[in-house]
Amino acid sequence: MLGGLEVVHVPDIRDSTKFIEKLRTKHGLKTQYACDCGAGIGRVTKHFLLLHFETVDMVEQNSQFLEAASSTYLREEKQNGRVGQMFSLGLQDFDPVKGRYDVIWCQWVLSHLTDSDLVKFLHNSAQSLKHNGMVCVKENVASRGYVVDSEDSSVTRSAEVYESLFKKAGLKIIEVQTQTGFPDGLFKVKMWALQSIEFN
Ligand SMILES: C[S@@+](CC[C@H](N)C(=O)[O-])C[C@H]1O[C@@H](n2cnc3c(N)ncnc32)[C@H](O)[C@@H]1O
Repeated sequence: MLGGLEVVHVPDIRDSTKFIEKLRTKHGLKTQYACDCGAGIGRVTKHFLLLHFETVDMVEQNSQFLEAASSTYLREEKQNGRVGQMFSLGLQDFDPVKGRYDVIWCQWVLSHLTDSDLVKFLHNSAQSLKHNGMVCVKENVASRGYVVDSEDSSVTRSAEVYESLFKKAGLKIIEVQTQTGFPDGLFKVKMWALQSIEFN
């Protein structure tokens, strides 16, 4: 799921945990219901979100990953209801229920959306938050502009590009943190917590 870079898993979970704890203690984030976007088989759900949230929904474009999650990787959590709904669709088509989530967590997936789909997705996500809920984005960032990978049709955006798209979607930045402890030679990774300018 991490393209052979299992070495990033431990520092990834460690810094995500610090980030969510900061959102809880400094910004009063509640921890009842999260949604893991671009979930894959549920690495982030299993090792991070379920440690902090009572229930976690998953959205993933590849239905085989969700099947692996419910039959094997997250079987018990699916059976006992801690993993809730599994949506087998692309984020560009995800129209979440309004007012449902405390956190929408998007990690290493937004590089697969076009700018316009990303803006629409972020806008819809913000509408699906409870009061004081947050959209969290954790993504690789380029040093400037866009870096296109024609092999997997992904695009790595700079932090400035992301931040201008957040603004376009009507979101403001509540907190931002840079990932630490990754091996040299990888893209820098940033985490943002976002809320709607309109509703919060
Ligand atoms: C690099 S993996 C990251 C998985 C997980 N977020 C993690 O950090 O372990 C990217 C995942 O996003 C999924 N994906 C790609 N494009 C997507 C889209 N448009 N909507 C939803 N999921 C997508 C892929 O199928 C894959 O499971």
